[in-house]
Amino acid sequence: MTSDVIVIGGGAAGLFCAATAGARGKNVVLIEHNATPGRKIRISGGGRCNFTNINTTPANFLSQNQHFTRSALARYTPQDFINLVDQYGIRWHEKTLGQLFCDDSAQQIIDMLVKECDNAGVAIATHTAVTSVQKIEGGFAVETSKGTWQGETVVVASGGLSIPKLGASDVGYRIAKTFGVPMVQTAPALVPVVCSKTWLQRWGSLAGVSADVSLSVGDALFRENILFTHKGLTGPAILQGSSYLPDEVQQGMISIDLLPDHSTSTLFPTPNREPRSAANVISDVLAKRLVQAWTQHDLNRRVDQLSLVELDAIVDAFKNWLVKPLNTEGYLKAEVTRGGIDTNALSSKTMECKDTPGLYFIGEVVDVTGWLGGYNFQWAWSSGYAAGMCV
Ligand code: FDA
Repeated sequence: MTSDVIVIGGGAAGLFCAATAGARGKNVVLIEHNATPGRKIRISGGGRCNFTNINTTPANFLSQNQHFTRSALARYTPQDFINLVDQYGIRWHEKTLGQLFCDDSAQQIIDMLVKECDNAGVAIATHTAVTSVQKIEGGFAVETSKGTWQGETVVVASGGLSIPKLGASDVGYRIAKTFGVPMVQTAPALVPVVCSKTWLQRWGSLAGVSADVSLSVGDALFRENILFTHKGLTGPAILQGSSYLPDEVQQGMISIDLLPDHSTSTLFPTPNREPRSAANVISDVLAKRLVQAWTQHDLNRRVDQLSLVELDAIVDAFKNWLVKPLNTEGYLKAEVTRGGIDTNALSSKTMECKDTPGLYFIGEVVDVTGWLGGYNFQWAWSSGYAAGMCV
């Protein structure tokens, strides 16, 4: 079993890379251990696949090398992928913040990628698990559950550790180890956070309540929703912030502005402050249950009987609510894996290993982690294209 190019992993990056290389006339085999390729694409974006973000820039990615994505993103842009989607007549819409979703189903994106592979003559070997890769004369030997494949080049597109039941494995990291390719510590990212028992006793009853907030972890700032859960917090703002928590999660701090559009003067304008309770006024702009659960201040006092200092203190507390997470919900619930193959070991133009010519790493297995909102798929397309044009 030989071919020019062996792509390991039939996810977003692997499918796109295989199609790109095949279209250049390369003989490509794509090896996937699931029964079908693209299982993560299928469930992405709530089944509608947020396939790109029109505002993608390198600033939307976490990596030890903030500039690493620049070249690949410039050579295969969100517009390039939109053109492909349009070519297949897949209808899409912008939901919010530049996020593009299929109107109908994520399956359309998988079908499109598989068709692109078919058109390019790519052989897709499913039900085939890669166990290891070795260097041999003139290329590589890829050991699988169904025998050994030999190829001149190998592209590792096996993804991260998130959602094992969809096929996630550590094979990419093991291959990196075999070839002495350095790694950046991995951690679950875009993941709900778990809070302490004490915290849950206080806030756990709010499970299901959401709020539009401004949330920061370190220097990273996001304006999106949070959602209370029985374990802690989730929602887009929390998922975004989770990627920036330290490896020792309990040493991190999430700062939440529950009144992002307000200040003392907009909530409680002078003169003629309303003869209503503070709780009542704040409930105009924040979920009532959340306001009722707030015991830091006596919110039952009437606004017109509170001093400006007291009102400032109330607003300040809502604007600087600190949550110290105990942990995250881990790889079982994480949308992506942070960390991975150290970008210093790769060419940013081609994704090829600097020290092992012919070996490439693309997609989520690399230390490039996008924000929530279509950035991770754009990285899969852009890095897949970069390698596909070079293998
Ligand atoms: P991906 O994980 O997709 O593919 C790796 C492939 O390798 C898998 O098919 C796996 O089975 C295979 N594999 C692993 N080990 C193997 C082995 N030993 N042998 C053979 N095959 C092996 N992003 C985004 O931009 N927009 C969105 O809407 C969403 N939504 C979303 C929802 C959910 C629930 C999750 C979990 C994730 C998302 N994401 C997302 C993230 C996005 O899905 C992710 O970043 C990409 O799928 C990464 O693509 P890769 O091809 O790198 O890995």
